[in-house]
Amino acid sequence: MKKEFKFFLMLLMLLLCEVVCAQIPIYLDETKDIEDRVEDALTRMTLEEKVAIIHAQSKFSTPGCPHLGIPELWMSDGPHGVRMEIQWDNWGHAQWTNDSCVAFPALTCLAATFNPNLSYEYGNALGEEARFRKKDVILGPGVNIYRTPLNGRNFEYMGEDPYLASQMVVPYIQGVQKNGVAACLKHFALNNQEYCRKEINVEVSDRALREIYLPAFKAGVQEGKVWTVMGAYNKFRGQWATHHELLTKQILKEEWGFDGVVLSDWGSTHDTHDAVMYGLDMEMGTRTDGLHYTEKMAYDKYYLAKPYLEKLYGGEYSEDTVDEKVRRVLRLTFRTNMNRKRPYGSFCTKEHYDIARRVAEEGIVLLKNENDLFPILPGKYEKILVVGNNAVRSLTVGGGSSELKVEKEISPLEGLRNVYGEEHIIFTEGYTSGPSKWHPHVAEISKSDSLRQQAVELAKSADVVLFFGGLNKNHKQDSESADRMSYNLPYGQDELLNDLYEINKNIGVVLISGNAVAMPWIDKIPALILSWYLGSEAGTAMANIISGKQNPSGRLPFSIPKKLEDNGAHFYGKLSYPGDSVNVLYKEDILVGYRWHDTKKIAPLFSFGYGLTYTKFEYGKMHTDKETYVKDDTIKVVFELKNVGDVSGAEVVQLYVGQRRPQLERPQKELKAFRKVYLAQGETKKVELFVPVKELAYFDDRIQEWVVDSDQFILYSAASAGEIKSSVKVNVK
Ligand code: BGC
Repeated sequence: MKKEFKFFLMLLMLLLCEVVCAQIPIYLDETKDIEDRVEDALTRMTLEEKVAIIHAQSKFSTPGCPHLGIPELWMSDGPHGVRMEIQWDNWGHAQWTNDSCVAFPALTCLAATFNPNLSYEYGNALGEEARFRKKDVILGPGVNIYRTPLNGRNFEYMGEDPYLASQMVVPYIQGVQKNGVAACLKHFALNNQEYCRKEINVEVSDRALREIYLPAFKAGVQEGKVWTVMGAYNKFRGQWATHHELLTKQILKEEWGFDGVVLSDWGSTHDTHDAVMYGLDMEMGTRTDGLHYTEKMAYDKYYLAKPYLEKLYGGEYSEDTVDEKVRRVLRLTFRTNMNRKRPYGSFCTKEHYDIARRVAEEGIVLLKNENDLFPILPGKYEKILVVGNNAVRSLTVGGGSSELKVEKEISPLEGLRNVYGEEHIIFTEGYTSGPSKWHPHVAEISKSDSLRQQAVELAKSADVVLFFGGLNKNHKQDSESADRMSYNLPYGQDELLNDLYEINKNIGVVLISGNAVAMPWIDKIPALILSWYLGSEAGTAMANIISGKQNPSGRLPFSIPKKLEDNGAHFYGKLSYPGDSVNVLYKEDILVGYRWHDTKKIAPLFSFGYGLTYTKFEYGKMHTDKETYVKDDTIKVVFELKNVGDVSGAEVVQLYVGQRRPQLERPQKELKAFRKVYLAQGETKKVELFVPVKELAYFDDRIQEWVVDSDQFILYSAASAGEIKSSVKVNVK
């Protein structure tokens, strides 16, 4: 080939390249800024396409924009694993054979670890599973504050303290989103009970809203940079929370600068006008005529579908209103399913099981341990009697939308058999919660008496009795859409425990629950473990704790009151909880959980932050770096911590702060810092904790601003809200 011709050919190719490259639309060009891509895509969409992309096309997906090659967006519950596939138009399971996931421990357990690093690993593992299953949004985490022990969904949330929930939720979100999968912070806001959740109107003060119920959402948005937020079912001050002028429009978007998508809860949208005007970006799960059956195009009837489109055509709403929503959806798409650099994800890996197990082990809380009943070293006893339905029951199924289909779930009984050997374990069910869809094999309630007699009989000759009870995922237990009916343990467990104790005093109780329960037998039984819904590795983790292979280090993420009326929400009677089915008034105001117990001097049975270990820690005297601080300072607190017991272990050191003479009523003290400190036997570490002075603020509702008073503040180092180790006074000017 002639030299000139070759040169000419090269020039031609370069030119062609230029032309082709120039033709790549900006929205597809990943070298471009996301905001430029969003604007470019927006200009290419028709009004119909814009409206289509902001509402569901199936139970868990939205349609994208096919003509631009913008793919469907797929979502899944959440928040403890990736839910099995659900049918296109109804809640039936799709019956796939490849959607059995790893069940991670419930979020109550994650909160109980008091370990933000572990929360990041949890989020990352979940994000990897979600990504592998081709999900773009995982519907979790939930950070609704634990207000009453009767709330059926507390197990899905992160406890009663806004600071703890904030610290734990941020790394979870970062871990998930690292995989190019959006986390979804839910349920915004004030969805603190399941009773009448779809109708109830919450009345709460500005202070409680800002100081208690919103901080974890704010942290998730501003620090976690979450990409989606789900609106709640309930009303607040007479307006639906999902499209709420104050909550979603003003606070979430305008004040906090949230740039992601507000999606509705499934069926929480109620009105086109409010959805258009007050911050809802994507409508999911609305029931329309025929949607559950056969009628075609039912999704067109959504509030943000045809009814909206018609009003856009008619000029009732400007195109800007829909552009604002579409921008957010496109931004989400470019962050997730149009990000070609996102990792591929992985599913049911050994690493994921390891993380599930570690979270479970670190979250289990040892509440009582007289005579060192725990740990039970292998070989110590010939005959271990395991009693209780929860020792064999699957606790990953049921419970509502957080249900999971798992690849494996080690039951407590299996875990114990693996550690102690089958020949040393005798099992009897003791009580039954009755057969269910998932447990057709368990005995009828009518058999309770005979089950109890059998257990009592076997207890006579056992060296030790291990009772596995608590709540389960049945309707009106720890389950969505209804609250518990009573604070006591269900299915006759209190009576059974008394009977067992009368026969055999060497009894260790393991409660599996996402909630506090009444413990009328607590003074009698020598040892108690509070376990959570621990997921796939439940049995292994429990056996590791019980046998002493792992030292318990979980701490209560909520207070356990002696009786229900000792809880702030219940103290004021029915209108304060559960409400009159129209309104619920949060009369305890800012005094939620330990804030109530402390301030009102009503001692709980077990305090927030409480938990024992198999070792002992000694706290040194606490010092601060200064005596007086100004606005932008950070208070530094230092003390020594020594492991003075026989084994290595971890202590959760907690720093609470109270104000001497506040202008407005404040809780006696509030958690402002914590750290999980691992210490080998005999080891001493210097612990440093930091509290920015601005974190000492309260929300002054008179001027609608956060205010730090010039005053004296008292810092408490503590092992729980009920166990102060040392205190220091500082001045803030
Ligand atoms: C729940 C949400 C869940 C959604 C989808 C709703 O009933 O409140 O938490 O994500 O269903 O399953």
